[in-house]
Amino acid sequence: MFESFTASKQDAIVILKSDHEKVKGLFEQFENSDNKREKRKIVAEAIMELKIHAEIEEKIFYPTVRSKVEDDDLMNEADEEHHVAKLLIAELDQMDGSEDHWEAKFTVLAENIRHHIKEEEGEMFPKARKEDIDFKAIGQKLLAAKQSLKKNGVPESAEGKLMARNAKADSPAKNAKIKPTLKLAKSTAKPALRQPQRPLRRNSVRHIK
Ligand SMILES: [Fe+2]
Repeated sequence: MFESFTASKQDAIVILKSDHEKVKGLFEQFENSDNKREKRKIVAEAIMELKIHAEIEEKIFYPTVRSKVEDDDLMNEADEEHHVAKLLIAELDQMDGSEDHWEAKFTVLAENIRHHIKEEEGEMFPKARKEDIDFKAIGQKLLAAKQSLKKNGVPESAEGKLMARNAKADSPAKNAKIKPTLKLAKSTAKPALRQPQRPLRRNSVRHIK
C-alpha cells in the first residue's frame, strides 16, 4: 500500500495536478486579501510556481504527449496559452505592485491560467492517459527538473527577453490615461483601393407588384 502511494506521487499527471491546486489556492488567497504587502508576496510566489510549472511542462511533459496524442490543435493551443501567460508574467516582473494595472494584470493572468488548467485536466490529461506513456518515468523527470529549477532558477523566457528590451510597453496602463477629448491624429496610411461598383443586372432587381 505504501509503495502504491509513493508510486502515485511520482505519476506525472498527479504531480502537474498538484501544481495546479497550489496556484489555484494562491489565486484565491490573492482575491481574498486586501493587504498590499501580502498580495505582493502571493504574486511573487505564484509567478515562481508558474514559471517552474511552465518550464517542466514545455521541456518534458508536452513533447512526450505531443508525440503520442495525435492532436496538434490541442497541443498548439496549450503552447499559445503558455505564451500569453508568460507575456503577462514578464510584464508583472517589471512591476513593483504600485502601478495602476498591477492587480488587473495578475487577475487576468489568474483567469488565463484557470482556463488553461480546465483544458489540460479536461482534455489533454485524459487523452494522454489513454496512450502508452510511462507516467512514472516522466514524473521522476518532472520532480528532478523542479528541484533543479528551484535551486538554480528558471532560465529567462523569450517573452521575458522581449519585455526587458521594451520595459515601458505597458499599453493598458497608458490607454487608461487617454483623455476622452483627445483629437485623433491624422492618419498617414494610404486609403484602401475601392472596388469598382458593378452595375446591377436588370434581371437581378425584383419588382414588387
Ligand atoms: Fe500548462
